[in-house]
Amino acid sequence: MCGIIGYIGDRNACEVIVKGLKRLEYRGYDSAGIVTENRGSLFVKKGAGRIDELTGKLGFLEMPGKRGIGHTRWATHGVPNDTNAHPQTDCTGRIALVHNGIIENFAELKDELLKKGHSFKSDTDTEVIAHLIEEELKSGGSFEEAMRKALLRLKGSFALGIIYTGEPDRLYFVRNESPLVLGIGDGENFAASDVPAFLEYTNKAIFLDDREYAVLTKDSYVVKNLDTGEVVEKPVHEIEWTLEMAEKAGFPHFMLKEIYEQPRAIRDALHGNAGTMRSVAEEVSKYDRIFIVAMGTSYHAGLVAKYLFQRLTGKVPIVEDASEFRYEFENLIDENTLVIAITQSGETADTLAAMKLAKRRGAKVLAIVNVVGSMATRIADLTVYTHAGPEIGVAATKTYTTQLAVLTMLAIETARVLGTAEERYLESLEEGLQRVPELIEDVLRHDESLRELAEGLKDKKDFFYIGRGISVPTALEGALKLKEISYIHAEGLSAGELKHGPLALLEEGVPVVAIAPRGRTFDKMVSNIEESKARGAYIISLGDSEDLRRVSDVLVEMPRMDELLTPIVYVVPLQLLAYHLAVLRGNDPDKPRNLAKSVTVE
Ligand code: F6R
Repeated sequence: MCGIIGYIGDRNACEVIVKGLKRLEYRGYDSAGIVTENRGSLFVKKGAGRIDELTGKLGFLEMPGKRGIGHTRWATHGVPNDTNAHPQTDCTGRIALVHNGIIENFAELKDELLKKGHSFKSDTDTEVIAHLIEEELKSGGSFEEAMRKALLRLKGSFALGIIYTGEPDRLYFVRNESPLVLGIGDGENFAASDVPAFLEYTNKAIFLDDREYAVLTKDSYVVKNLDTGEVVEKPVHEIEWTLEMAEKAGFPHFMLKEIYEQPRAIRDALHGNAGTMRSVAEEVSKYDRIFIVAMGTSYHAGLVAKYLFQRLTGKVPIVEDASEFRYEFENLIDENTLVIAITQSGETADTLAAMKLAKRRGAKVLAIVNVVGSMATRIADLTVYTHAGPEIGVAATKTYTTQLAVLTMLAIETARVLGTAEERYLESLEEGLQRVPELIEDVLRHDESLRELAEGLKDKKDFFYIGRGISVPTALEGALKLKEISYIHAEGLSAGELKHGPLALLEEGVPVVAIAPRGRTFDKMVSNIEESKARGAYIISLGDSEDLRRVSDVLVEMPRMDELLTPIVYVVPLQLLAYHLAVLRGNDPDKPRNLAKSVTVE
């Protein structure tokens, strides 16, 4: 996820762009850059760091010109540094562009362009697009046609802002699976990843749809279909949000926004790893001793991975809390060990220490990380990115479900390499995984009823979350979400464990949240629910079977899917329930007390 802002009009473009970038900083903040045009020349300034720092250091506000484009980056390909910052340019320096998204086929396009003599400056997938347009321009025709031809060759997601010195009066903006909105002013026009970037100047907005592009001049705009080049009529919306509301896309908190972003984030995670998961799986398949190390929510993702791996590949990873691993398992680590570290921030002290220990002992280290260029990626031999975009809310939501998505991909691909599961089954699981974003969209419709449910539960003192098999980690994660933002005590446990002690705590009205998808232990789960109900517990079930209605006070109806995919989807209502309980109790879910987004001390 990155932020884009473009301006064309009579103001100093750089001033509008710097303000816009500040408002988009929540979308990415590892590097930033601006291109402006003046008297037929492009001016490019960019670097790693925060906008404020770069504005002073590079002199963003001294850039000449009345049209330009800015970008704040959240790296996906290439570490955050000065050269990988956007804008990226072609060989001639006449085309500059900024990009939000992931180009899946960039490696093959880059090879082709290198053979044709193009020279590349950065490690980004983005730079390929500039050279591809340059190449198309060589065969004559208009810039717009060359751009369109080049873009038709891209696979993946992209929102782009493009400027070309050969056309002094216009800017191009393109959208495919990454957001882009036009701001329509009077004698000036804007384009941005999100409305707050230009809301100070205009509240008239046109939301581009996938595979559309816009040509902006200072007095006009036209939107066209990328595939056909035909003009598309678009409605102009009047935005009624305040600036603060707009930054959160109208959501009252970042956490809620991030919960709603999950379908998009998972699509990016699947796209972003489609071409590379096979080679990672080949590496994983070589090892019999596999440890997974992580903390908190990422640890729960590791627990889900344990079930995925044991069911699909026959390998049983040992999942350890990284703070324990570093002191307890040293003698088990050697060059025949694979250590998979899961960390969204890539900066969690205990996880980094566990990784370093593994490296010292000669183990292979694979990191599953959200933040490109973070410390974990520098320690690891191999990194898989989750592509969730920046997560501002302290409670992990979209970074968790994207971790689960990539771990599911990895388990499927490892099973394929090892031949441990039927290909037909693996294919159907893969198809199911591709549909997960839609299933989550479906589940998000429960939001209002979960809020109403939370109203009735907000004064409860204790919650229990129970599950069996692959739903046990979901129970743990549901309980963790509730604890950390609502400050209500919660326990997550295997339903079978209830009778061995915790049942003593159940009395009239204590909420028990049962994660009960159909699967191999469904009947056992129903018996456990009945046991709890018999003690007066208030049963909230999540499931896809009508049988649950009889034993539940509330049934959150879930869509049907393969049991192995349920952790990604079933956690969503639990995130929403925790969120609403936190808000109803007067807490700020984005900034829970005593907690920090990344725990960089032991
Ligand atoms: C809970 C949460 C934490 C993190 C944990 C590990 O919502 O966010 O439990 O999951 O601190 O953080 P990372 O994944 O950055 O290593």
